[in-house]
Amino acid sequence: MASVMEADSADEMAPDPPKAAPAGAIPVVPGLPWIGNTLEMAKDPAAFFLRAYRAHGPVYRIKVFGRESIVIAGPEAAMFLTTRQGRDSMRSKEFWEGLVREYGATETLTGADGERHVRLRTLMRDGFSRESVAGQYDTLVAITENALSRRWRVGTTIPVIEAMQYLVVEQLGMMLTGSAPLDYIKDIRFAILTILNVLVTRQRPSIMLKDPRYKTARRRVDELGRAMIADFEAKEAAGGAPRNAITDVLRANKTDKDLMPDENLILTVTGPYVAGLDTAANTMAACIYGIVKHPDIHARIKAEADALFAKPSIDEADVRGLKAINGAVMEAMRLWPIAVAQMRTATRDFEFAGFTIPEHEMLYIGTSVPHFMHEFFPDPATFDIDRYNRPRAEHLQKGAYSPFGRGPHSCLGQGLAEVLMAVAIARVFHRYDLALEHPDYVLKTKTAPTPGPANSFKVKITGERNIPGKGKQP
Ligand code: HEM
Repeated sequence: MASVMEADSADEMAPDPPKAAPAGAIPVVPGLPWIGNTLEMAKDPAAFFLRAYRAHGPVYRIKVFGRESIVIAGPEAAMFLTTRQGRDSMRSKEFWEGLVREYGATETLTGADGERHVRLRTLMRDGFSRESVAGQYDTLVAITENALSRRWRVGTTIPVIEAMQYLVVEQLGMMLTGSAPLDYIKDIRFAILTILNVLVTRQRPSIMLKDPRYKTARRRVDELGRAMIADFEAKEAAGGAPRNAITDVLRANKTDKDLMPDENLILTVTGPYVAGLDTAANTMAACIYGIVKHPDIHARIKAEADALFAKPSIDEADVRGLKAINGAVMEAMRLWPIAVAQMRTATRDFEFAGFTIPEHEMLYIGTSVPHFMHEFFPDPATFDIDRYNRPRAEHLQKGAYSPFGRGPHSCLGQGLAEVLMAVAIARVFHRYDLALEHPDYVLKTKTAPTPGPANSFKVKITGERNIPGKGKQP
């Protein structure tokens, strides 16, 4: 079934013809001696990619964090990812090698390519899908409610990123394994954020991997992986573990060792926390900011959330029908995309927009550039949750909107993420009155490990509404 976001194109759609066919070398974005464009990139990568796209067109060279790379950007680059030529010319292996090594594994879904990638993706597709939540919507609401009521107190000020990270771990744990790994949450956060910083996005030095706190957290994540495997074995012995993303992987380990060898199990079963923790937490935090900052939108979201939970039970159609809430989440992903660019390596020389991209070059695919272009999203800086409704449907223009990436590695957890985030946002605003620390607060952002709101972003809990078991609050 389709996601909340309708797709804008078939997979094989050809890219737009290049606007100009420039001759000669790929333009270089001027930078400072030695550090090149690092400062601009570290400050606001989305703004940097857009500025360079406007100045140099869809292909340019940059130097960041001591490495030279080529950027291909804009709607044409987003569409290129979905073409056969794009698939055959780029791979992601190199970007995930550090993570794979750290776990003593041989492969991970995100870094696999070609035939093996298709097989792994097929194995994991059902467990990460929107359909995997069918029949469990009320459970998901209960999980979300529990997580919130455990930590959110009226009169306190909540650091939103951290609060959302805790919430996502509980939601993912319950949905994927049937239990929230509460004892492990701190370690999951510490280990995964360090791994993303050092081994994947490589914005922090590898010395951080020697930090005893990291080593402890990392050991605990292994321990969690082993506990997940033991839990599966126990359930199988007792008559059969229910089917989900984790048990699909663990069953494949028994029936198809070539696809899922023992050494890849820990990384694969704890992988959803790597993929879902920062991505969903950053997006929900940005969404909360967008809502609380705009009183008119805030009122609409509360009304929609209250109507949702006035129902005795909710299902997929109810969540899909949340126009204001889904619009707010989509607007958060447009304005604060967690994947400003997708990272790849050229597997051969290939042509793009009139340039030859040489084999072995490191590439950033600037898919988020159109998110900020007025040609696609009029008044692009405005948090406008109605852009996605027909007849406007601004996101459906070719290559315009890619928060979940594009092409073979596009987010496999999109369906699940959309449900988790919509339910969480609905529940937060159904249960609490929130306010910014100061009404004129403007969101500060961070770029490491994943772009999103700064850890310093806080909201005040000014009131509690609709307390379960206590009837409606005024
Ligand atoms: C707001 C939430 C999320 C966003 C915006 C997001 C975004 C993305 C993006 C942009 C990619 C592509 C990376 C690339 O091409 O290099 C990706 C891949 C992936 N995501 Fe998500 N993600 C989110 C949440 C989740 C969740 C909750 C899960 C699962 C629990 C998940 C599972 C995956 C997986 C397994 C891949 C790898 C797919 C592959 O390589 O074939 N994501 N995600």
